[in-house]
Amino acid sequence: MKFMKRTHTCGELRESNIGESVVLNGWAAIRRDLGGVIFIELRDRFGLTQVVFEPSYNSETHELGKKLRSEFVISVEGKVRKRPEGTENFALPTGSIDVMVDHLVILNYAETPPFPIEDNIDVHEDLRLKYRYLDLRRPEMQKNLLLRHKMYLLTRQYFDQNGFVEVETPILMKSTPEGARDFLVPSRLHKGKFYALPQSPQTYKQILMVSGLDRYFQIVKCFRDEDLRADRQYEFTQIDVEMSFVDVEDIFEMVEGLMKVFYKEVLSIELETPIKRLTFDEAMEKYGSDKPDLRFDLEMVTLNKVFEKSDFRVFREALDGNGIVTGIVAKGCGDYTRNQLDVITDYVKKLGAGGLIWMRVKESSSGRDLEAPIAKFLTDDEKKDLISAFNAVPGDLLLLLSGNKLKTLNIMGHLRLEMAKRMNLIKPDSKPALLWVTDFPLFEWDDESKRFYAMHHPFTSPKVADIPLMDTEPAQVKARAYDLVLNGNEIAGGSIRIHESNLQAKMFKTLGITEEEAQEKFGFLMGAFKYGAPPHGGIAFGFDRLAMLFAGKHSIRDVIAFPKTSSGFSLMDESPSLVDETQLKELHIKIKQ
Ligand code: AMO
Repeated sequence: MKFMKRTHTCGELRESNIGESVVLNGWAAIRRDLGGVIFIELRDRFGLTQVVFEPSYNSETHELGKKLRSEFVISVEGKVRKRPEGTENFALPTGSIDVMVDHLVILNYAETPPFPIEDNIDVHEDLRLKYRYLDLRRPEMQKNLLLRHKMYLLTRQYFDQNGFVEVETPILMKSTPEGARDFLVPSRLHKGKFYALPQSPQTYKQILMVSGLDRYFQIVKCFRDEDLRADRQYEFTQIDVEMSFVDVEDIFEMVEGLMKVFYKEVLSIELETPIKRLTFDEAMEKYGSDKPDLRFDLEMVTLNKVFEKSDFRVFREALDGNGIVTGIVAKGCGDYTRNQLDVITDYVKKLGAGGLIWMRVKESSSGRDLEAPIAKFLTDDEKKDLISAFNAVPGDLLLLLSGNKLKTLNIMGHLRLEMAKRMNLIKPDSKPALLWVTDFPLFEWDDESKRFYAMHHPFTSPKVADIPLMDTEPAQVKARAYDLVLNGNEIAGGSIRIHESNLQAKMFKTLGITEEEAQEKFGFLMGAFKYGAPPHGGIAFGFDRLAMLFAGKHSIRDVIAFPKTSSGFSLMDESPSLVDETQLKELHIKIKQ
């Protein structure tokens, strides 16, 4: 059968083509039979064009047209005509014309697809992932992949224009400490030894700075064996960046420039810079999160001062234990029912809170008063100060938590988000809320293993003024580390690095890493640093998260061609899967039953 090569794509024909003889190739999408006439929407990546099989126009072709079913691959030759008045489809760019078919070639048959190949379908994601090749045929998924493609191009163009060099780094490497579990690859030639897949190219990009590359970037796959979520995959893509002879401001400027390009070229928005900044401490205190969503206010207020003399046991214990009393005001929620209050109380309890204190602000003879189960434990002054701390008015609801500082702030941060949802504070057209979070703690204490961990990674530089505290009060040391947050999502993270062996050794010591261990794990990096390491720093974007947010999606799976399910399966090719016994033998691996 002769394959007729297309003259146009399915998204191309307009009224100006009327009268032309054309050939289109594509998939038969929607089919309608009206009074003996067959209408097919022919689809390819570029759009949809209606093609018409009419018996009085060409009876032979019409007869063959009767065989067409959903997703048959066809080639048609025909004449472009203006659609009869009243039958236009103004939702389609090609909607004012159609093609009267003279010749039809069926290039391939298709079984009935398990779900319709169109947008806004109500199908379980597992089915879409199993038949991903069909899912990706849907216009909205193609749009996402095209957007991703555009963002790759913009990234490469931007960094090239700014003097950066893209360098590929190994996929089989030595384990890097980014805080997750490694994916390991057993070595066939080196019995018992393993490569690790990179959690990020962190060590390589620092070594490239020692090598004098000066400005490096890479669009790179990273691998982390961690619990999957809507914004996490085992393998994900970073825009990885490193620069020499820079401080934090230089990195911010470079990143803000890229964000401006993305907003302008993808969403036609002029992004205002500089981007707002908050320190980690401020972000935690006001929003209970190191990635606060600033599309709405609902700021948390620390109430330690209000309750400094309180006899109310719950507050007293928190304050005496160096803890915190924090709260938010839910405007106009004073009429919440007991049931609604129970639901939000359960919500915070599930997150580990002992309970939730709520108070309704009421009108009273003296102005404003509080109605709450705990009201009797509060003095008049405390009530008054509380109301004024929140600027609360009758009809408002106050929600308070107390306890250990970071834990309580964190739970209140979750409640803040939950209340924003309930109060419908996040409008779909809200302006993008970008934010730098700076001055993260250098170390994180782990209660279980009773030791400090690097909050970012062990190559992050402390703030110079805090270096002496590394020996005495490691928990107080702040890092020259920063995250970029967009609408409550961490989209990038980085730091200025340690570039002196002595400081690096001190860092390892505080982390409880012995000299031998450091030598074994990072000897190559420390070795490189002995030969003239420039001051350097960098950042990495979560590219999938960026693409997700620019596409207006809620899961990175929607902008990844072949993602894994939340339990780590690839439903299409069924991996992970068993392998041959011989393969295992070669790799010196025995599976314990
Ligand atoms: P970090 O670990 O913060 O930094 O990672 C950078 C960004 O990568 C994204 N990200 C992920 N996206 C999808 N799935 C995942 N499992 C996942 N994990 C992280 C986030 C995050 O902000 N080497 C350092 C960067 C540096 O210091 O320069 C690093 O990898 O958006």
